[in-house]
Amino acid sequence: MATADSNHVAVDINEVTFRYGNIRALDGLSLTVPSGISFGLLGPNGAGKTTLIRLLVGLLKPKRGSVHVLGEVPSRHTASRVGYMPQLHSLYTELSIRQNVEFFARINGLTDRTERAQRVEDTIRLVDLWSRRNDSVTKLSGGMRQRVSLACAIVHNPPLLLLDEPTVGLDPELRVTFWEHFANLNEQGVTIIVSSHTMDDAAHCDCLAFMRNGRVIAEGSPDELRGDTGQTTLEDAFLYYVRSEEGDRA
Ligand SMILES: Nc1ncnc2c1ncn2[C@@H]1O[C@H](COP(=O)(O)OP(=O)(O)O)[C@@H](O)[C@H]1O
Ligand SMILES: [Mg+2]
Repeated sequence: MATADSNHVAVDINEVTFRYGNIRALDGLSLTVPSGISFGLLGPNGAGKTTLIRLLVGLLKPKRGSVHVLGEVPSRHTASRVGYMPQLHSLYTELSIRQNVEFFARINGLTDRTERAQRVEDTIRLVDLWSRRNDSVTKLSGGMRQRVSLACAIVHNPPLLLLDEPTVGLDPELRVTFWEHFANLNEQGVTIIVSSHTMDDAAHCDCLAFMRNGRVIAEGSPDELRGDTGQTTLEDAFLYYVRSEEGDRA
């Protein structure tokens, strides 16, 4: 679990508040994510998951509080050590699969041509799209586009992955494949932070933060969250925390 030693902490968020005008998207949120695990940000639409991930990527700056990613304040420098899969695809639809993955490899610092070509091939093979490598993204199904997005996020071998709802719209088989990839990456020491609003994903995570209204309302492993609330499903555990939070406020 998390320790104060920054070598074992991938992400450290301290009392972060973020507003879009009058809307408070994050409300004094604190979270520590240990290295090498799959950590799930679970919560309904509007909970603040995307905002939190965008702060970790360095696309947004906190109004209050601090964010550290791999021991540093997120910046252009940390960006090349992070793999980011946005909630909406940011693929170049007129380019082929291979050109897209190649582009992300290049902007993320894989400068050596031979090494880059090999990584691009390995990554496209990993997501099982090598036979389609020269097809433009416009020709692909939603699930295939999601696999290309994942390939773009992991091609430069980053030690930290920030995946914003990577499994939305995937069929059950592909969802299982994604989680197998994530488990393999964890074994290689990669930290994965994944947001989701389905408890189906939650069960695959080593550790979860239940989020609501820009705050973490509970944190722990799936077993802990179920056990601590006396519930058999994570849905019910989530509702238990929502109700006890509302009870506290009443
Ligand atoms: N660009 C934006 N401008 C204004 N409000 C926003 C913007 N992005 C998100 N919000 C608001 O911030 C809150 C958190 O949103 P978001 O981080 O997208 O949550 P989630 O990813 O959990 O659905 C919501 O109330 C949402 O409406
Ligand atoms: Mg979101």
